[in-house]
Amino acid sequence: MNFELKTLSLASSAKTSTDTLIVLISEQFEAGKDPLSVLISKATQAKDFSNKTGKTLQAYGLAGVSAAKIILVGIGEGKPSDVKSGLTGAMATLKAAETSKAAVVFAGSVTSAQLHAAVLAVADSTYVYGTTHSKPKLRKLTQVTLGVQSANGALKEAFTSSVAMVEGIEFAKEWANRPANHATPTMLGKAAQGLAKTAGISCEVLGPKEVAKLGMGSFMSVAKGSAEPLRFIVLKYQGAAKTDAPVVLVGKGITFDTGGISLKPAPEMDEMKFDMGGAASVLGVFKSLSLLKPKLNVVGLIPACENMPDGLAVKPGDVVTSMSGQTIEILNTDAEGRLILCDALTYAERFKPKAVIDIATLTGACVIALGAIRSGMFATEDALADALQKAGNDAMDLCWRLPLDEEYAESLKSNFADVGNVGGRPGGAITAAKFLHRFAQKYPWAHLDIAGTAWKGGGAKGATGRPVGLLLQYLLSQQASAKK
Ligand code: BES
Ligand code: MN
Ligand code: ZN
Repeated sequence: MNFELKTLSLASSAKTSTDTLIVLISEQFEAGKDPLSVLISKATQAKDFSNKTGKTLQAYGLAGVSAAKIILVGIGEGKPSDVKSGLTGAMATLKAAETSKAAVVFAGSVTSAQLHAAVLAVADSTYVYGTTHSKPKLRKLTQVTLGVQSANGALKEAFTSSVAMVEGIEFAKEWANRPANHATPTMLGKAAQGLAKTAGISCEVLGPKEVAKLGMGSFMSVAKGSAEPLRFIVLKYQGAAKTDAPVVLVGKGITFDTGGISLKPAPEMDEMKFDMGGAASVLGVFKSLSLLKPKLNVVGLIPACENMPDGLAVKPGDVVTSMSGQTIEILNTDAEGRLILCDALTYAERFKPKAVIDIATLTGACVIALGAIRSGMFATEDALADALQKAGNDAMDLCWRLPLDEEYAESLKSNFADVGNVGGRPGGAITAAKFLHRFAQKYPWAHLDIAGTAWKGGGAKGATGRPVGLLLQYLLSQQASAKK
């Protein structure tokens, strides 16, 4: 998708050559004498349109307007969420039409947050996955102009980061949407290496031998049942001095989760191809970093493998030794995410990080707790939790903090190893986090459980690209606070 930012008034947008002109109208709108103002006033008087969020009106061939089609969209108070829902509704009417060029114009003043919401909504509602169809599917709308009263410095900056965020989100969607046979650990490794073609990014991909040498016995135990060799991906982005401590992002890269010997039931098992959504979000963030080149250092770690049942697969009751030295009794082979993440968390220590954030489609329990609206967020420090919560709000990629009380670790006790890999059903998202917490003692740490937010099921089945927005916004905010 090609985005462009332009200074456009309602009067000048009437003269812009485009297929469809979308006009966003808030409660503050004051009509002028231009043809679009007249249309808005007349339609409002006739009660065919109002500026309430989500109201739309379509018009064609209006005298004095170059665009063949006009869509008026109400955005109420003009909150970013109003802009998002208004535009998402309007874009749906374009799906059937052969519109390749559109302009989205704010009738009135615009904030950075509103512009950000518009870019994200347009991209999200027109995204198409088409990689594994016999004829590649392509999005119809390819050129979008955003019209604002005055394209000043702050708006330009917001525009640039929003467009880069969209690129990252779409990169994450693409990889998460790919079926498991088109997104193996080896292929994820190649995708990461592809990102390292940009200056400032380097990538190293470790295979089974190197991982064995590191002593990642927990990670290796999950991969044992699969014919696909595991990969441990290390991405580095350097935008600040070498001595600047990095933020480390760790993404769960289970390219398919059958549950292993603790096999999952058949219905909807196909959706477990999305179990590398955390890994995809790390790749997406690096895509955005490659475009924005902010002044900070970031490391991305992705343990990637399949979780399969097999004669060689790890069995319930098996005890494995993690890279940290802690032994783990694997009571349920379907709680595999934490088994690959714990070794990556230990590996992260070598970077002496400012903070480590892991991102994982970790528990069904988190889906029950928070649904598809907010990701679960855990953090060992309030400052980190607050920064993530704020970044989520700003990027419209919400999360909600859950607790890490020591009492929740009680159920992980094992008679045969230092720790078991599952607690009971109560508080399942939290006990999973407490398991990881044991391996994240040497740095400020946060954990995002994106099991409910990384993809949508049902008719609109597909990856959401979350939480690339939250993560990128957080990283950019770290850059801003380092500047002060
Ligand atoms: N990948 C799943 C978590 C998941 C479940 C994500 C449903 C999205 C939707 C994870 O590996 C898993 O299987 N977790 C188990 C843990 C349990 C065995 C303690 C779960 O949540 O059922
Ligand atoms: Mn599982
Ligand atoms: Zn899983």
